[in-house]
Amino acid sequence: MARKKPVRIAVIGCGTISGIYMENLSKRFSIVELVGCSDLLPERSAKRADQFGIRQMTNAEIYADPEIEMVMNLTFPEAHFEVSRDALNAGKHVAVEKMMTVTMAEAKELKELAKSKGLLFGTAPDTFLGGGWQSARKYVDDGLIGQPRTFSAVCTTSYQPNTPKFDLSPDYFFFPLHPGGGVPYDLGGYYLHNLIDLFGPVRRVSGFGGNPEPDRTYSNPHHPKYGEPFHVDTTTTIVGALEFANGVLGTILFSSDSSQSESFLVHGTQGTLVLFHPNFYSGRIALRRVSSAPAPMFPPQPAVPAPPEGAIVRGVTTETELPMLHGFLENSRGIGLADMAYALRNGRKPRMSADLGLHAFEVVDGILESARTGRTHEMQTTCERPKMLAATALVGTAQEFALDD
Ligand SMILES: NC(=O)c1ccc[n+]([C@@H]2O[C@H](COP(=O)([O-])OP(=O)(O)OC[C@H]3O[C@@H](n4cnc5c(N)ncnc54)[C@H](O)[C@@H]3O)[C@@H](O)[C@H]2O)c1
Repeated sequence: MARKKPVRIAVIGCGTISGIYMENLSKRFSIVELVGCSDLLPERSAKRADQFGIRQMTNAEIYADPEIEMVMNLTFPEAHFEVSRDALNAGKHVAVEKMMTVTMAEAKELKELAKSKGLLFGTAPDTFLGGGWQSARKYVDDGLIGQPRTFSAVCTTSYQPNTPKFDLSPDYFFFPLHPGGGVPYDLGGYYLHNLIDLFGPVRRVSGFGGNPEPDRTYSNPHHPKYGEPFHVDTTTTIVGALEFANGVLGTILFSSDSSQSESFLVHGTQGTLVLFHPNFYSGRIALRRVSSAPAPMFPPQPAVPAPPEGAIVRGVTTETELPMLHGFLENSRGIGLADMAYALRNGRKPRMSADLGLHAFEVVDGILESARTGRTHEMQTTCERPKMLAATALVGTAQEFALDD
């Protein structure tokens, strides 16, 4: 059988994350052909064009090129709307990094625009397609923890104009402290896409959130703007309660206003899944269970402690590390776009879809609305769970077969 015709793509936005994207999109996926890139700062697109042997272009040249079928929008969140809209209007399929836009109104407009033009429009993060998260999904679907009932997701960090994260160059633009880039959207986006992949659509949300200190100061004496004011114009903390349509309940806490702490636990009737930071494609997954102690083996093992007796625990809590069941365990940024390219060629639904991105965005938006009104927010959007990838742990180029369905 002849190889499928690769989908010609261009990247708009050649900043921090573009390196690994372009590395993967030019080498790992035979279904795409990376032909060009652009950036508002031409020195950035020149560097990437040179690095990957592709054309340095302007946004307008990308839109006007009839050979380019799909655009990967890697601009910062405030530019997501304009670039995605212009690319869709030029007839390109679009994949955009998280989150889809900065406002719900913009996100809905883009989804409708793509629909009216019959174009694919997918929103990253695509880590939920990584081998670790697909394995977690299979463990949940196969009933390893019985019926999933509850979860808790905590991701806190400290982003201030004086942390090491903040570059010392006077013009450095750290988007997580600008509109649409705050941790609830940025790192929170990874958790939300994965939660929806694990449990399906959300029915309603409530919570609190805001920004405890919008006016801050460059406090690093080494920074050229030391002592100057810095306005943080984004939500930096949210705490939310989520009720999924399948009955699963859980809490999220995403904040850049305190020190670093992470945990992601899913509790079921038969055990707890201990999960990893969904910014990564794989990591440690463990099954935590209260059970009887394992039988002694030959040669004799050290004495097994007697099961504790008490009001709460009768038995031994074991934690067993679980194997990865799928491919794409390494940094696979671009896998969502590659899946869209297969969706285009094979005439199927893409796993990274506008419905998923819009639904995840509404969770944050709904929690902030709940914080303002004091009422629960009934979700207005919904989405299907993306189809699981084939559970075959493969390596190298062979992994791509899992997307060709
Ligand atoms: N940095 C990360 O670790 C990371 C990881 C995963 C995903 N992301 C996502 O990827 C996207 C980009 O992140 P980043 O860290 O690379 O940001 P960045 O700020 O380093 O780069 C963004 C680039 O987009 C360019 N740009 C802005 N508006 C433009 C326009 N209208 N036309 C052309 N170019 C434009 C900027 O000049 C800049 O070079 C964001 O949506 C972010 O959420 C970032």
